[in-house]
Amino acid sequence: MARILITSAIPYINGIKHLGNLVGSQLPADLFARYKRGRGDEVMFICATDEHGTPAELAAAKAGKPVAEYCAEMHGVQAEIAKGFRLSFDHFGRSSSERNHLLTQHFAGKLAENGLIREVSEKMIYSIDDGRFLPDRYVEGTCPNCGYDSARGDQCDNCTKQLDPTDLINPHSTISGSTNLELRETKHLYLMQRALKDKIEAWIDSKTDWPLLTTSIAKKWLNDGDGLQDRGITRDLHWGIPVKKGDQPWPGMEGKVFYVWFDAPIEYIAGTAEWADANGKHDADWQRWWRTDKGASDVTYFQFMGKDNVPFHTLSFPATILGSGEPWKMVDYLKSFNYLNYDGGQFSTSRGRGVFMDQALSILPSDYWRWWLLSHAPESSDAEFTWENFQASVNKDLADVLGNFVSRVTKFAKSKLGEAVPEGGTFGPQEEALIADLTTRIRDYETFMNQIEVRKAAAELRAIWVIGNEYLQSAAPWSAIKTDPARAEAMIRLSLNLIRIYAILSRPFIPDAAQTMMDAMGSSDWTWPEDVPAAIAALAPGHAFSVPENLFRKITDEERADWQQRFAGTRA
Ligand code: MF3
Ligand code: ZN
Repeated sequence: MARILITSAIPYINGIKHLGNLVGSQLPADLFARYKRGRGDEVMFICATDEHGTPAELAAAKAGKPVAEYCAEMHGVQAEIAKGFRLSFDHFGRSSSERNHLLTQHFAGKLAENGLIREVSEKMIYSIDDGRFLPDRYVEGTCPNCGYDSARGDQCDNCTKQLDPTDLINPHSTISGSTNLELRETKHLYLMQRALKDKIEAWIDSKTDWPLLTTSIAKKWLNDGDGLQDRGITRDLHWGIPVKKGDQPWPGMEGKVFYVWFDAPIEYIAGTAEWADANGKHDADWQRWWRTDKGASDVTYFQFMGKDNVPFHTLSFPATILGSGEPWKMVDYLKSFNYLNYDGGQFSTSRGRGVFMDQALSILPSDYWRWWLLSHAPESSDAEFTWENFQASVNKDLADVLGNFVSRVTKFAKSKLGEAVPEGGTFGPQEEALIADLTTRIRDYETFMNQIEVRKAAAELRAIWVIGNEYLQSAAPWSAIKTDPARAEAMIRLSLNLIRIYAILSRPFIPDAAQTMMDAMGSSDWTWPEDVPAAIAALAPGHAFSVPENLFRKITDEERADWQQRFAGTRA
């Protein structure tokens, strides 16, 4: 039994995420976690909310709430929606947790001990009208790298370059819009990433199996000359993790907090400690996932994220870990995603353009969304959500192919042969061909899932559903029953077993429909079909089944038009 650690990039606390966010991290991470559990591996799947920094403060101010209260409330909202999408986290933590405070301060202390932190007195942007410093997203302007005019002070959304507020051309305050800004002296801690460059580079070079998207972004920022600048890891903000050296005060740093991107990835570790706390476990129980000196050397660690997050996970977070000099588990495989666009443009949180997670669940069950999103995951390039495409996929793949197979088989069986697996007849060449084809395809499906080739896995799964339909069509039990009833019984016996196998294989993509299929087959045996001939005989003659409710309904043209209108960009 392998041990698999999986983390999804932790979503910012500021509001409900759209489907583009979902498909770029949490959803494919869930797919993989479910698959690995299905194969019998021991899985630890961690996510959390990213609660510090300017996004949290700005959103709380907009909502007119104290930031701690806002975060607690939004964490609850995001946790509920994650459940709605069946995201199977072992724990959904909070980066503002006590565990993360302690661990973040611990890492900072170790980095200081190892001579990798320097104090810098520098001039930062101060807004005279707002009466405060403007770190990160409190300031926007033109990107010096690509010319994009709404680059934020921490990163350009257009070219992914990490920025400092003072890099921006024509900066303005995002609190007041004011351009009445000046540079004021303030003291901050810098992580000396440059001193770690060789180590980080050697580590990235050792990852020869990483997806091209991940490696190219990592290399780009490592080698572009200023890609691995020393980075400020503290901020003049109230909300955040107070700057301390381990459990000791940090003279001169009173009233300052760590930068959100310093503490956020540490929450992957802290979130696992929160899992232990929430489940009455001990430190050893989370450390065996994270400390290679305490059992984690046989763990394989997978991270999932959108492409804009890659620099932080290939350079900054590894710098923290490597710089600590402690035996922490580092990522083995980093799966990153391009962007999902919406109907001819971009999803936009600020303009309410596109479908947000809560809205999606209010119009259709999660399986419909999971299937479309995963089968169209933006892997090799950006992808686009259109309502036409969504309607076509749902109606064809889910309703016509899978749903129809299950309904035809169970209804025919019930009306002609009764509600138990029939015992007559034997398998002939048609069944043997199907089993051979199915075996090949299941092995291919496993390969794609192991490689986290999400689209290819979805296509293979769909092909597996299709061969069931094709078999049924050509075997035609409804004709056979008139001339050779025993043959018809053999066909139906195989088909009912196929439904159970479909439940197992489909579960990572569409967990609710999978459960319905399994329940209808009167089974709870989710054993992975390693041995296909054995799996096809798992439901023995006489085993009772039932006809399930319609698995999927079709989306009508009227609904499609209505939704297209509704989500065009007016969300408050
Ligand atoms: N909150 C960030 C985003 O949504 C992701 C943080 S991932 C972590 O882009 F590594 F920092 F945790
Ligand atoms: Zn840019």
